[in-house]
Amino acid sequence: MAEEQLTAPSSDEASGKRGIHGAWSSRWTFVMAATGSAVGLGNIWKFPYIAGENGGGAFVLVYLLCILLVGMPVMVAEVMLGRRGRQSPINAMRYLTQEAGLHGTWNAIGWLGVTAGLMILSYYAVIAGWALYYIGQMASGTFQGASADQAGVVFGQLLSSPKELIFWQSIFMLLTMAVVVGGVTRGLGVAVRILMPLLFVLLVILLGFSIQRGDFARGFNFLFSFNYEALTWAGVLEAMGHAFFTLSLGMGAIMAYGAYMPDHARIGRTVLAVGFLDTLVALLAGLAIFPIVFANPTIEPGAGPGLMFVSLPVAFGNMAGGLLFGSIFFVLVTLAAWSSAISLIEPAVAFLIESKGFNRITANLLLGGIAWSVGLGSVLSFNVWADVTLAGFNFFEFMDFLTSSVMLPLTGLFIALFVGWLMKPEAVRSELMDESSGVFTAWHWILRYISPAAVLVVFVMGVYKTFS
Ligand code: PHE
Repeated sequence: MAEEQLTAPSSDEASGKRGIHGAWSSRWTFVMAATGSAVGLGNIWKFPYIAGENGGGAFVLVYLLCILLVGMPVMVAEVMLGRRGRQSPINAMRYLTQEAGLHGTWNAIGWLGVTAGLMILSYYAVIAGWALYYIGQMASGTFQGASADQAGVVFGQLLSSPKELIFWQSIFMLLTMAVVVGGVTRGLGVAVRILMPLLFVLLVILLGFSIQRGDFARGFNFLFSFNYEALTWAGVLEAMGHAFFTLSLGMGAIMAYGAYMPDHARIGRTVLAVGFLDTLVALLAGLAIFPIVFANPTIEPGAGPGLMFVSLPVAFGNMAGGLLFGSIFFVLVTLAAWSSAISLIEPAVAFLIESKGFNRITANLLLGGIAWSVGLGSVLSFNVWADVTLAGFNFFEFMDFLTSSVMLPLTGLFIALFVGWLMKPEAVRSELMDESSGVFTAWHWILRYISPAAVLVVFVMGVYKTFS
């Protein structure tokens, strides 16, 4: 089924695609593909731990504001650019820059994004490897009745072994490349349709455990009470960067998928659906994790990247049917990470095929190989290189900062400026002609004034304070 094909179309294909999609079914396909990209480790693993490191409530509020005022408007812009360009992000930007009569430097939007995607993939595969490892640990009963201390020991052992980490990172990279080599076809659509709801159900089960057996009141307060003192510019920058990261913005993934939007699908509603689902999953994960954290004094809210891998095994190890639920949970986390990872590499793959004459296999081997090699730096940063730091960041932290807090927001800023100020308003309006004029005007105004100003202020202050 052509409409399930998620790879970026070539330009001749693109013209043929206009209009052949049933609007509803394709809009739905896009929602699934975009949700598959958006919902991933960012929601379940990263959001809780960075919220924990930044003191909770204030961070969460800033994050939600950024989703609304920056993330969603930029997402509409990216989908719109993808649909208008109908090619891989780099070539789509090339076409749109020409159309707007601009200097070629604006192509940098495409390049910056594609590079950020590969850099993110490098460490994303390492963390997804942890989830893979945990499937087996859950199933074999390692966490049966485990205390927080015991769960911490298991996690510590995993981190201390580069061999083990590289093994699981490699398996995950191979899984990702296998899908992208085949072209991202129906399989992913089915996976997202069935597995995402299942992930949601398991998160609700976890939430039930946290309400019953965790310190739910404290966990809830931590996430939702506004503690102004905990707010720093560095934290605000992290929250904004995470809004881009979690919605898969600023690196071309959503633009590549936007190339499949039918001409008359309402982009606004679609983006609202994706943003809502993504935020819901993150908040559910936070609400499941923090009550367990506060019920176990040996787990710190600011424990860092291991937060989920230490707290959730305690929950699964101590609930009825927990080993089964736990194994399924980590399978689902792996799958959620998988559908995100595919979208991290696909824009670059599509570009090499479109413009450099690569075939799918060599493009994948090359790009997958690069991401894998760079990922070794992250592997080592959890053990051998733990003390090797640059400006206070170890390798993994540096890659994460550079991509989430610098590259994604900057690309997002350029996209907001490009669509808000440089593209001809008539072109923008005609691409979004199915939105009501009120919605369009509000969106255009936010994209012109609020989003760029917010990104600029937060970026400058955040970077300055992070390094001073
Ligand atoms: N949004 C994904 C997540 O939350 C990560 C991602 C970022 C995917 C950027 C694609 C592009 O896990």
